[in-house]
Amino acid sequence: MSGPDLRRAAAARALDLVEPGMKLGLGTGSTAAAFVTLLGARVRDGLDVVGVPTSEATRIQAEAEGIRLATLDEMPQLDLTIDGADEVDGQLRLIKGGGAALLREKIVAFASTRMVVIADAAKRVATLGAFPLPIEVNPFGRTATRIAVEAAIARAGCTGAVRPRLAPDGAPLVTDGGHHILDAHLGAIHDPEALSAGLWAVPGVVEHGLFLGLATAAILAEDRAGQAHVT
Ligand code: A5P
Repeated sequence: MSGPDLRRAAAARALDLVEPGMKLGLGTGSTAAAFVTLLGARVRDGLDVVGVPTSEATRIQAEAEGIRLATLDEMPQLDLTIDGADEVDGQLRLIKGGGAALLREKIVAFASTRMVVIADAAKRVATLGAFPLPIEVNPFGRTATRIAVEAAIARAGCTGAVRPRLAPDGAPLVTDGGHHILDAHLGAIHDPEALSAGLWAVPGVVEHGLFLGLATAAILAEDRAGQAHVT
């Protein structure tokens, strides 16, 4: 069973949570895209929901699927957000932002009564941090911000390289919000709450990819004897 099959299985289970009239947050990434595809088919069958996309990529996909969309300003309280994750631990703490959409993803998740993570079960970890932690920063003073971020990381008891994320042309990647991304290669984050607080204290940090206390459930799909097993 392939990764796309597992992502689709998790997305299909999440679709069972969607009820007519719901205000939905639509996540970003390949697993969230699988959900948007399935949701689009239900909408074309008559399901009435409204979505707030967490990225331009998701907005374009959802529009193509015929899903009615609103901005978060038009619809500031959401019932349910469905989104992927790069890592999820046993306390539903996440690393997100591999697709550089972490700022809008976090704003939308925070505005939602429920945030349900959908993922291949390979994203489940005992300790967050093997996946590089994305940190979104203002381009102004980015070198000073990177130095301050490195100091905050050290104070939180972590070690590892902090590198600017680059676009395919070699220039710094620019997010939907016009910011840059630093990826912190930490290996293990033993105190995510301390690291989160330390990063937020750096003025140039716009947001970081630690999602703490936001996810209310996770739907994880794994291959068991050639069948997708969803928990
Ligand atoms: C986007 O910024 C990310 O937070 C994604 O949700 C995350 O990277 C998971 O993506 P996949 O579903 O493609 O693994």
